[in-house]
Amino acid sequence: RDRFDLVIAANRLPVDRAREGGRSVWRRSPGGLVTAMESVMSDRDGAWIGWSGVAGRAPAPFEQDGMHLHPIALSADEIRDYYEGFSNGSLWPIYHDVIVPATFKRRWQAAYEQVNQRFAEIAAELAADGGTVWVHDYQLQQVPRLLRELRPDVRIGWFNHIPFPPVELFMQLPARDGLLRGLLGADFLGFQRLADAQNFRRACRQLLGDEQVTVRGDVVRTADGHECRAAAVPISIDTRGMVELAATPAVQERAAEIRAQLGDPEHLLLGVDRLDYTKGIRHRLKALEELHREGRLDADRTKFIQVATPSRERLEAYQQIRDDVERTVSRINGDHSPIGAPTVTYLHRSFPREEMAAMFVAADVMLVTPLRDGMNLVAKEYVAAHDDSGALVLSEFTGAATELKQAFLCNPHDIARTKQTILRAIDAEPRERARRMRAMHRQVLRHDVQHWAEQFLTDLATAPRQP
Ligand code: G6P
Repeated sequence: RDRFDLVIAANRLPVDRAREGGRSVWRRSPGGLVTAMESVMSDRDGAWIGWSGVAGRAPAPFEQDGMHLHPIALSADEIRDYYEGFSNGSLWPIYHDVIVPATFKRRWQAAYEQVNQRFAEIAAELAADGGTVWVHDYQLQQVPRLLRELRPDVRIGWFNHIPFPPVELFMQLPARDGLLRGLLGADFLGFQRLADAQNFRRACRQLLGDEQVTVRGDVVRTADGHECRAAAVPISIDTRGMVELAATPAVQERAAEIRAQLGDPEHLLLGVDRLDYTKGIRHRLKALEELHREGRLDADRTKFIQVATPSRERLEAYQQIRDDVERTVSRINGDHSPIGAPTVTYLHRSFPREEMAAMFVAADVMLVTPLRDGMNLVAKEYVAAHDDSGALVLSEFTGAATELKQAFLCNPHDIARTKQTILRAIDAEPRERARRMRAMHRQVLRHDVQHWAEQFLTDLATAPRQP
């Protein structure tokens, strides 16, 4: 087969290059998106195009788990300019409220357009007549327009996994008009929250103006008559997969073992994040440090595990946050830990799914405190791993907060209140914990990632189309 009913275009392929017995093999990457796509691909002919994660010539296309995978080549310069530069040095900071300043370089913008063109050309080759192309995330915002130019017969959808910023911030991007026009090539644009879709529509109205667009309800119409609908379709997780995994004897035993390894603490707190400045890890540590210093947390009885998965390590802002986090962790341990039993266990690496599930099961309180986050799937995974125990402290600045309303919500910038919220979560009565957790657990069972993917594809299939 060389043409496909459904083509996924994402910066990364759903597989990673790994070494096994001295050989290089493709291994399915752990993300929830892969699971979601598997469920919608199982009854369709599907292809996935994306970058393999390494520089240089792309490996030949191949089949895996019933999907056609088409690697895209990125040169070392393109990785620097398109991926690290424009995507993660310009767009990522702007889309996350400028927690660190954004950098703009014309060379980066040119590389972004060039790589987006490459994705569009491959998608145009792979899509069947009247087929569907589903583009993912901020790295590929030009693909909808470029693809429409090549294949006007194809239905094009785009989903933004991260926030869409208020127009006042979006305006800073020198590439702003081109990005909006790029997206408007799609038939349907999916966002995490209503507020993100509104920000996008407002940016169209304000920056492109009456001559180029008319916005009516959630539809943006361009001067050539093309219509593009922008709405919220919040992403989720493979809830049943996590519920089942968490219930396995192996995971249950491992959870007990983790607690035992930590000396059976009275309270086990957990944080799990990519090591990114958007995640509020420093704010979380500051709150915990003050609670220890004030004697409101006891380092003998309270332990905190922070998993911080390495990410984008060549970028300075990421080296900076790593230094800050590591310094703070050692200070807390230096000031407060008893001999042989650090109060903070800091893990700068990634773990298999089973081990993550065991940590979720083991933890009494999960701390999810981003300064800005499109959704935050870790919060949902924790909730899936518990039915009537545990407690979730959740930042108001996550997409998840609009759905998990029974969490202990906090503003991570407000350290004083965050400290109180952490203590409230720790001290909550079992009945209150159960009431909150049951409601959130039901929410993620009803709204899982399979449901999300179906919803997106239905919205895309029913989006208005020019005759
Ligand atoms: C976020 C983005 C994804 C990205 C992931 C990991 O979740 O929305 O598009 O793949 O971070 O980042 P990386 O730069 O390693 O792909």
